[in-house]
Amino acid sequence: MDRRITVIGAGNVGATVAQEIARKDLAKEVVLVDVKEGTAEGKALDMWQTSSILNFDSRVVGVTNDYLRTRNSSVIVITAGIPRKPGMSRDDLIKTNAAIVKEVTERSVKYSPDAIIIVVSNPLDVMTYAAYLAANKSPNKVFGMAGVLDTGRYKAFLAEALNISPKDIHALLLGSHGDTMVPLKRYTSVSGIPVTDLLGDDVLDKIIERTRKGGGELVNLMGTSAWYAPGAAVAAMVDAIIRDQHRVFPVCAYVDGEYGLKDIYLGVPVILGKNGIERIIHLNLDEHEMKLLMDSAKSVKEVMNVLDEMKLF
Ligand code: NAI
Ligand code: 2OP
Repeated sequence: MDRRITVIGAGNVGATVAQEIARKDLAKEVVLVDVKEGTAEGKALDMWQTSSILNFDSRVVGVTNDYLRTRNSSVIVITAGIPRKPGMSRDDLIKTNAAIVKEVTERSVKYSPDAIIIVVSNPLDVMTYAAYLAANKSPNKVFGMAGVLDTGRYKAFLAEALNISPKDIHALLLGSHGDTMVPLKRYTSVSGIPVTDLLGDDVLDKIIERTRKGGGELVNLMGTSAWYAPGAAVAAMVDAIIRDQHRVFPVCAYVDGEYGLKDIYLGVPVILGKNGIERIIHLNLDEHEMKLLMDSAKSVKEVMNVLDEMKLF
């Protein structure tokens, strides 16, 4: 197995993604790239020195802007860009991050034309669209991570409220990676038991609201955005792709006809396997759920307009 996986951006999220991928031995080589001289090299060396302690073989290397070193990667994870600070929304990041995402996508795809690209940089839905435009490849190979993280938060809050293992909670969430995300009560269960049999609407609604604001809660606590759960969420997606697991995850995918929506990246349930998005799953939403999804799509379209006005593409 001579598989290479590249992670662009060696900050909090990128370094955590690289570490999780290495610990799972998903690649022979994990290449961490950053624009800041020495950052990726130092973090990669530190990580590689844990290999004998943590028992993994994946060789972790770091480079400064050397995209040739990333050639023939199977998966490229894009975390480059600035994170939120208190008082900022994810959408405030677009002006800086759109140019970064365009640049790193073009540079990496040049050396790995067949790679599957997972975008993490915010504002996620629109940055994934930007990477799709920059990569100029099939949308089943360009998608974003948000739903695995957001459902992870939702499940953690539910596990706490129910005093039940988070492993037994199954849940789905649709829409944008923003305050209009749509956690779905009707598709939430505890080992098959509808969550609505176990929790009242008042408690559930509070948990849904906390999930929607889950990223902001952490930004307010730490002064910057989260990395442990985002890193673990990306690694779970990479695992599903590399091992062709056909896992069902909420993923920020290119929607063109499904759910009555066109030409937009938005969170929907998909099957993830070796070809990237193997299939988008269609849910029979009721009127209320559909309205929430449309509101979420509308908020993403507004940020897409900002990207259009930047005339980067
Ligand atoms: P960070 O500031 O710790 O790391 C970002 C890294 O990107 C820095 O090391 C920086 O030098 C690097 N970078 C900037 N421009 C670059 C370029 N042109 N080429 C290569 N590297 C470059 O930020 P953090 O916390 O790692 O967050 C990264 C991004 O991920 C942010 O936009 C954040 O909002 C987003 N995020 C998204 C989540 C999601 O669920 N989709 C969850 C958490 C964060
Ligand atoms: C998060 O949800 C800010 O998108 C980042 O933690």
